[in-house]
Amino acid sequence: MKSKHAMTLKHYLQFNDLTADEYAYLFERAALIKKKFKAYEKHHPLVDRTLAMIFEKASTRTRVSFEAGMYQLGGSVVHLTTGDSQLGRAEPIEDSAKVISRMTDLVMIRTYEQSKIERFAANSRVPVINGLTNEYHPCQILADIFTYIEHRGSIAGKTVAWVGDGNNMANTWLQAASLLGFKVHVSTPRGYEVDEKLAAGARGISAGCYQFFSNPLDACQGADLVTTDVWTSMGYEAENEERRLAFADWCVDTEMMAAAKPDALFMHCLPAHRGEEVEADVIDGPQSVVWDEAENRMHVQKALMEYLLLGRIA
Ligand code: CP
Ligand code: NVA
Repeated sequence: MKSKHAMTLKHYLQFNDLTADEYAYLFERAALIKKKFKAYEKHHPLVDRTLAMIFEKASTRTRVSFEAGMYQLGGSVVHLTTGDSQLGRAEPIEDSAKVISRMTDLVMIRTYEQSKIERFAANSRVPVINGLTNEYHPCQILADIFTYIEHRGSIAGKTVAWVGDGNNMANTWLQAASLLGFKVHVSTPRGYEVDEKLAAGARGISAGCYQFFSNPLDACQGADLVTTDVWTSMGYEAENEERRLAFADWCVDTEMMAAAKPDALFMHCLPAHRGEEVEADVIDGPQSVVWDEAENRMHVQKALMEYLLLGRIA
């Protein structure tokens, strides 16, 4: 860290790392930052700050939203991948963290095991942000809830239907539900259930925020938001064929949307595969807010980066 008066070090490795009160602040701040962006008004709180972005998996949205977002905040970025850095040549993650965090002010990592990002953070002098691990995708859920609030108001007391894999997105929805007071109806094929203990993290999840349904149509019944994700997440490609068979009935279609509330929204973190986890009529239909959802990654992450580096701005 460069400043003697640096803030207490705060990482964002999973959704549970912030409190409900901090989320309320971030959603308000993201709305303001978005408004300024739309009005071409300069917002440069992070001049002279550098974000290091480390990608061990592919990305479109996360890369563009963090990179464009950091420049818009007045800062700059360094982009590293496994293939073009010593990370891919077995330099210990602890050593990489010590070096990278002496030269930059903030680090975003997309990688495999959550334990890798935790080891990085434990050796970092600067805040570390999870840009997706096998276990969690907190920046995406931050954007999804912000998008829900923009369209429908508070998510507290509402029901989110998760149709598909019990993956990093599903785990993060569970943490968010427990923290922000809404309910998640989860439907996965047998063998792909959410690992509740893993999803909960150290903080645990409150009783009643999560219910399992073996039939995806039942999970969508009365939901305020229906959401899904790819059948095969990055890193699991070897299971592609068996997953295509197992997930065949977990395609969000117009019947599932009709079972949800009439004003229910549809979300997907993207990239999507039309005809697999979602029908084209749904993702390209009137209830879908996937493009707002994607754009909002940038606005919420700008609020997050500002918060981790500067704290609350009155
Ligand atoms: N939703 C999301 O994280 O997209 P990318 O994989 O393109 O970053
Ligand atoms: N669950 C997906 C999300 C992609 C943004 C994956 O991990 O590949």
